[in-house]
Amino acid sequence: MSTQPTVNSSRGDPLVVAENMTVGYELERERKLLTALTDINLTVHEGEFLVLVGPSGCGKTTFINAVAGLLQPWEGTITYDGQPIKGTSQDRSMVFQDYAVMPWRTVEQNVKMPFEFRDTGLSASQIEDQVKSMIGNVGLQGFENSFPHELSGGMRQRVGIARAMVTQPRLLLADEPFGALDAMTREVLQAQLETLVMDAGQTVVFITHSIDEAISLGDRVAVISHRPGTVREIIDVDIERPRLAEGEITRHPEYGALREHLWGLVKDEALGAKGAVV
Ligand SMILES: Nc1ncnc2c1ncn2[C@@H]1O[C@H](COP(=O)(O)OP(=O)(O)OP(=O)(O)O)[C@@H](O)[C@H]1O
Ligand SMILES: [Mg+2]
Repeated sequence: MSTQPTVNSSRGDPLVVAENMTVGYELERERKLLTALTDINLTVHEGEFLVLVGPSGCGKTTFINAVAGLLQPWEGTITYDGQPIKGTSQDRSMVFQDYAVMPWRTVEQNVKMPFEFRDTGLSASQIEDQVKSMIGNVGLQGFENSFPHELSGGMRQRVGIARAMVTQPRLLLADEPFGALDAMTREVLQAQLETLVMDAGQTVVFITHSIDEAISLGDRVAVISHRPGTVREIIDVDIERPRLAEGEITRHPEYGALREHLWGLVKDEALGAKGAVV
């Protein structure tokens, strides 16, 4: 892989634009509406790695669902490449915390899945090559014919990442993908994800509860406030890449101040959430 050091690339053209977006859920049993996010103004720029943090229940997953096209705004708009998001698209690919791999399929068959739903114009042998190379990129070569139950949690998560990225979607939506992993595996996967994303020039929206993960991966970190969920502050992380391939981003002079600032905001929000009366 040929990862060139780059500076923060967060200022490409707008790819996803939410304007005054209010969105939520219909609670069927109680016959009422639950507003999850209100008056959201947030732009995801082409090529940027945007991280969302905020207390549990503030609406982070809801935002990703709206970008994926699984929810429609109640008020305001959300657009992708200038067009209103009306439904799902293979251009926008999701990777989840709970792996979401198919237990009855081998690693290779799992990674190949997106090609079954999308006509990429590639021949069978080109698809084969792309699947093999993506399996190699996430460090699973030799496990092509293994089934998920034969893999560790970290390895299963790599299958999920490989599957989400194999068709090189323009936008990757990642909902706490590393939340369930041990610290070391998590660091290794963060570094691999950074390299993959840099090489492919992909745009990423990534949710985490870890401040360190947010600063390690994000070009910008959006802090979402709780009830009603809205954007409280957006922080620029102007630390050059690759940050993780070389290890120790924590020694960077900017790191401490960024961490302290972000921690203050998140703590504030978490306390606010606990004390909230609804
Ligand atoms: N399918 C659903 N039906 C009804 N309400 C929902 C649904 N999904 C989420 N909610 C509600 O919407 C609000 C926002 O939830 P969301 O899952 O977006 O939060 P989150 O920030 O991702 O939280 P967490 O960090 O715990 O994953 C919460 O009040 C939640 O109860
Ligand atoms: Mg969530």
